[in-house]
Amino acid sequence: MDSNHRRLSQQIYSLPPLAARETLLNCECVFYSLIFRCQQKPELFLKIFPTPLAFKILLLKYCFMNNSNFNWTQALHFDQQHIWHPYAKLPHPTPLIGVKSTGGSYLTLADDRQVVDGMSSWWAAIHGYNHPQITAAVSRQLETMPHIMFGGLTHQPAIELAETLIQLTPSNLTQVFFADSGSVSMEVAIKVALQYWISRQQPKKHRLISLRNGYHGDTFATMAISDPENGMHHLFTPHLTQHLFAPAPAMGIHTSPEKEIQALADLLEQHHHELSALVLEPIVQGAGGMRFYSPEYLKAARVLCDQYQVLLIADEIATGFGRTGKLFACEWADISPDIMCVGKALTGGTMTLAAMLCTEEISQTIAQGNPGLLMHGPTFMANPLACSAANASIELLLNSPWQTRVQKIEQHLEQQLTPLKSLKGVEDVRCLGAIGVVELEQANLGVAIQTEALKQGVWLRPFGKLVYTMPAFNIPQTSLNQLTQGMTKAITKILKAE
Ligand SMILES: Cc1ncc(COP(=O)(O)O)c(C=O)c1O
Repeated sequence: MDSNHRRLSQQIYSLPPLAARETLLNCECVFYSLIFRCQQKPELFLKIFPTPLAFKILLLKYCFMNNSNFNWTQALHFDQQHIWHPYAKLPHPTPLIGVKSTGGSYLTLADDRQVVDGMSSWWAAIHGYNHPQITAAVSRQLETMPHIMFGGLTHQPAIELAETLIQLTPSNLTQVFFADSGSVSMEVAIKVALQYWISRQQPKKHRLISLRNGYHGDTFATMAISDPENGMHHLFTPHLTQHLFAPAPAMGIHTSPEKEIQALADLLEQHHHELSALVLEPIVQGAGGMRFYSPEYLKAARVLCDQYQVLLIADEIATGFGRTGKLFACEWADISPDIMCVGKALTGGTMTLAAMLCTEEISQTIAQGNPGLLMHGPTFMANPLACSAANASIELLLNSPWQTRVQKIEQHLEQQLTPLKSLKGVEDVRCLGAIGVVELEQANLGVAIQTEALKQGVWLRPFGKLVYTMPAFNIPQTSLNQLTQGMTKAITKILKAE
């Protein structure tokens, strides 16, 4: 937007709506056709701008946008002052990094730099961005039916998706609840577990047990089962429902978790009469430390849950859809949980959607209890666009050589990142499936490493001591080389400067 447009938009912004409308009529922008139509049909104007605020918001948009010419400097300043970003201060201490567009494994930044994406938008974009098959499915759905309430109504994309999820997940999971985010699906899982025991006339079984270093979301019930001390929600611990925590299984997929299995067994023995469910992230504890642990622990957890009549909830929100090298991480131990949640990669990272699956025994028990209904129903439940994206993404995944791709990425990450172990300041390097983690000794180098990685043409989002990557499964080899080289250079440079 040039200075004339800016001046004009500022003038317009301070005008009363009708005068602004007149002024806008003299401008050249997308607004004109809209305003023109409003002029012909005044009731349309009221519909579009039902309040002065709605009018102002549209004008504000106009301030930033003159067709293709988005004023990034001004917009980033606005963003920094007014928009909260994940786990961030407001105002944000530094300007955010604008992204103009995405494609495959690349992001085009506001300054037109193209950087290779190391994060898959937090585990989600497993096919890279803007995959034509997903885009086409969403476009088709957009034209047919972008959304319809799920209360009393249903639709093809949701039915197809439920059928697919039932087929792909462990065979005992046959009942599906669609939620709009991972955290909400976990809330539903918790609610289902509680209601199951209430329906079985055992209301005392209302507590949960989860693992240290676990992370299950940002809502209140999920904060209460995420690690109470080293997790990101410790601030709220005194205000959360008090649950039990078992020690985190020893780190390492081949490390014996015998001690931790015993600790879990002891806790279950002592508390099973008050426990409704054990909640865990199978094989990989993500945001609580990017820790990989042995399938032996999972197997033992399943046996103990059966022994003590405690439901097992597997949070596969991060691990689901191939990330660890298995379609679902439960497959590492060949176990079936009673309840499972999936999200993130469900739609290939295109739209927000999650699902909770459980056994028929659970749904029947709830149905036979009082009131029999599962009292949860988000407005955008089973959004058809998101379900279509998920159907396309899963089809794409299953028709691709994803196991080979993930295996190759794992080999590459092992080869390229392991040498960093010898650097002073690196505590550990570990890889599993399409996940590569470099754990540092210090927790305060993330921003410096991120900035340096960007200079190397790589997008990373370290947290705490962890610098990690989880690329798209179909990342081209040259881009993967660029990713690991950039990551290595950034870590080396920043650690050497320490
Ligand atoms: C294991 C796990 N569970 C739950 C969540 C919460 O999902 P969402 O961010 O979609 O609410 C996350 C998000 O990172 C996660 O990694």
